[in-house]
Amino acid sequence: MATEQQTQEATPEAASAGKSESLTVTDNRTGKTYELPIEDGTVRSMDLRQIKVDPDEFGMLAYDPAFTNTASCRSSVTYIDGDAGILEHRGYSIAQLCENSTFLEVAYLLIFGELPTGPQLDRWTFDITHHTFVHEDLKHLFEGFRYDAHPMGMLLSGVGALSTFYPDAKQIDDPEERYMAAVRLIAKVPTLAAFSYRHNMGFPYAYPDNELNYAENFLSMMFKKTEARHIPKEALSKVLDVLFILHADHEQNCSTNAVRGVGSSGVDPYSAVAAGVAALYGPLHGGANEAVLKMLRRIGSPDEIPDFLERVKQREEKLMGFGHRVYKNYDPRARIIQQHIDEVFEATEYNPLVEIARELEKRALDDDYFTSRKLYPNVDFYSGIIYEAMEIPTNMFTVLFTIPRTAGWVAQWMEMQEDPETKIARPRQIYTGARDLTYTPVAEREGPEKIVGPPARRPKRPRRGA
Ligand code: CMC
Repeated sequence: MATEQQTQEATPEAASAGKSESLTVTDNRTGKTYELPIEDGTVRSMDLRQIKVDPDEFGMLAYDPAFTNTASCRSSVTYIDGDAGILEHRGYSIAQLCENSTFLEVAYLLIFGELPTGPQLDRWTFDITHHTFVHEDLKHLFEGFRYDAHPMGMLLSGVGALSTFYPDAKQIDDPEERYMAAVRLIAKVPTLAAFSYRHNMGFPYAYPDNELNYAENFLSMMFKKTEARHIPKEALSKVLDVLFILHADHEQNCSTNAVRGVGSSGVDPYSAVAAGVAALYGPLHGGANEAVLKMLRRIGSPDEIPDFLERVKQREEKLMGFGHRVYKNYDPRARIIQQHIDEVFEATEYNPLVEIARELEKRALDDDYFTSRKLYPNVDFYSGIIYEAMEIPTNMFTVLFTIPRTAGWVAQWMEMQEDPETKIARPRQIYTGARDLTYTPVAEREGPEKIVGPPARRPKRPRRGA
């Protein structure tokens, strides 16, 4: 706990003498000096609360609207050094994991903290493989969507609906229930993801195949037609597994923060993960890879790149797939994805958009506008090109991000349950509105003529289908 001192008693130098792990703050409104303990390079915002001019006032708050400089938890799941371009899960570099591991093993590592032994991995793989089916009633829920519903919207509803099928998951203090929720989420999200695609296409839903590995099974549920068994090309399922590893976790990003924030209310893990799916849907987060492809198509040819970059500099456009809140260097995930592009094209048709993407990256990295702002390609810059080569439609890209990120959300949710400092997340605000007004009956009110709302005769959006 922080302590308060009088300035006349302690100059900043004197106050900190012999106490290297503290921060001395002087409130110039009162002349009082406070010692705030520093732990792990941070000060506790609650220690600011004692700083007040009047003893009756609330006390000082920290203002950080987008959490740009606020640690919201302690976590040992994922380490990122954004300046150096380092990403590690439980201490293992992302490059080592992509080179040697599989997605299911990385999911185990994220959730349980250590690489599994052979028998542990076998059991984990068995459990996930044997929970991939979803209840038929959930299939009926999907059948109720419009034929052109966005697959992320369908997936979001499907994950939320899972909580109604597993009401025992509400017992979040029961380790067995937590384990089953982890298994079911990781197992069933690919099934729901594939169902959302098949629904869009008007194809019958394809059921899981327990003889296939995780990535193969997903591709089979996506693309199986009349054949008895659909075995995807090995090159594609292997690269997809690497992409799953790359997207598995990324510490306290927008969607993980949503999972933790919603989960902190004590809700079941399916509902908490549904909040993560909703956050990932946004174009500044998981929706960026879809936006990259649209951007590359709009650019159309390498000759148009200089004009496009000029528009970005004029702030008429955004260079999607570039920039990151944490990485101020090349995103290590983007580097690994790049290494796999050529092997994908050996197994698929060539995607000419890759030429535009490579030229765009080269020119942006030669341009002071981007380098001075430390804007480098992020994970989404090249992933869409690979998905497109695999014949995965653009509106499914964020869905493909959701499948592996489910493992990260579960790991972070599990960690939060065991953290003794966990409390319901409840930020404060700086109130900027009016106070103490007197209510006027509607007939007596005067004000501007402007009616709030859409124009009275709004042109109807053309709707296809029923
Ligand atoms: N294109 C052009 N300018 C940019 C871009 C971009 N993609 N990203 C940032 N900037 C500029 C921004 O205008 C600002 O310039 P100035 O200082 O002159 O005003 C400066 O760079 C700093 O940007 P910021 O908006 O303060 O950075 P942020 O940390 O708030 O935003 C970001 C991070 C990822 C939302 C942003 O870089 C962005 O919108 N990128 C494009 C969307 C994208 O690719 N998102 C995927 C992120 S990786 C996958 C994931 O984890 O979700």
